[in-house]
Amino acid sequence: MGKPVIYITRKIPDDILQPYQDSFNFRMWAGVDVPVPRDVLLREAASADGILCLLTEKVNREVFAAANNLKIVANMAVGYDNIDVDAAREHNVVVTNTPDVLTETTADLTFALLMAAARRIVEAEKYISDDRWKHWSPYLLAGSDVHGKKIGIVGMGRIGEAVARRAKGFGMTILYHNRSRKNQTEQELGVFYTEFEELLNKADYVVSLVPMTDETKKMFDRKAFQKMKSTAIFINVSRGGVVDEGALHDALTENEIRGAGLDVFENEPIAADHPLLQMQNVVCLPHIGSASIETRTKMLKLCLDNLAAVFDGDDPITPVT
Ligand code: GLV
Repeated sequence: MGKPVIYITRKIPDDILQPYQDSFNFRMWAGVDVPVPRDVLLREAASADGILCLLTEKVNREVFAAANNLKIVANMAVGYDNIDVDAAREHNVVVTNTPDVLTETTADLTFALLMAAARRIVEAEKYISDDRWKHWSPYLLAGSDVHGKKIGIVGMGRIGEAVARRAKGFGMTILYHNRSRKNQTEQELGVFYTEFEELLNKADYVVSLVPMTDETKKMFDRKAFQKMKSTAIFINVSRGGVVDEGALHDALTENEIRGAGLDVFENEPIAADHPLLQMQNVVCLPHIGSASIETRTKMLKLCLDNLAAVFDGDDPITPVT
């Protein structure tokens, strides 16, 4: 039997693939910044034994139906809402993701975004680069304090806990909401379980870290924003689909909340003329939560190690199915 054929849906560096070259026959989409066209993915899937894909690929029933030999889809992300896991199961395909390796990096970015939105960092940088800084003034670009405030973390998984550890360092009171209560985390980190509505009412910073599922779809809707403090800042680093973006825009324009920091959007890339991008009190980033060189490299290696485990007949390291 020849080496398993692995289709990689984006160009990744040769030195990362090198240690695996003896085990696999790699085929790869040549785009660095451009996702694989759908027809190419479907054609390549037909002869692939494994696929290493990004969150930009919708790996749905159509892909599984086209792929006759497929054993594993290794998703380079912790979230896997781009993959139809039920269809994978029906086709006996293992799906893996990349938890743990990106936890701390994503928590760093979450805090960076929270700080940037709170202290108006992007607005302030633009103020100076637009050559508008003529005088120091008492309330020039005055933002909100972070230290000593209340953070409400919605979705207390690994990244939520890592954000909570950072918040502790800032002397924040930490509320969290999660599908299930986490007693050990409460004891270890001194965080308080709070019903969703109460968290919205009380938090100065509401941080969304929930995965995208049928239950979380648009959970931050008009009603949710209306429950927040008028001084609240909303941060989303999970998936854009958990937010009703129209409702967020309304809440911001009607001063129902003070600001937002968004790393993810309902449709990515977000259109340049999207109303949220026109708002000074919203900091928007292009889905870079886990984007450090070290972490992105670890994520790719974890995908490759998952592929290697499955084709060696071992259990996958980080399966989701
Ligand atoms: C990124 O959004 C991820 O899910 O890893």
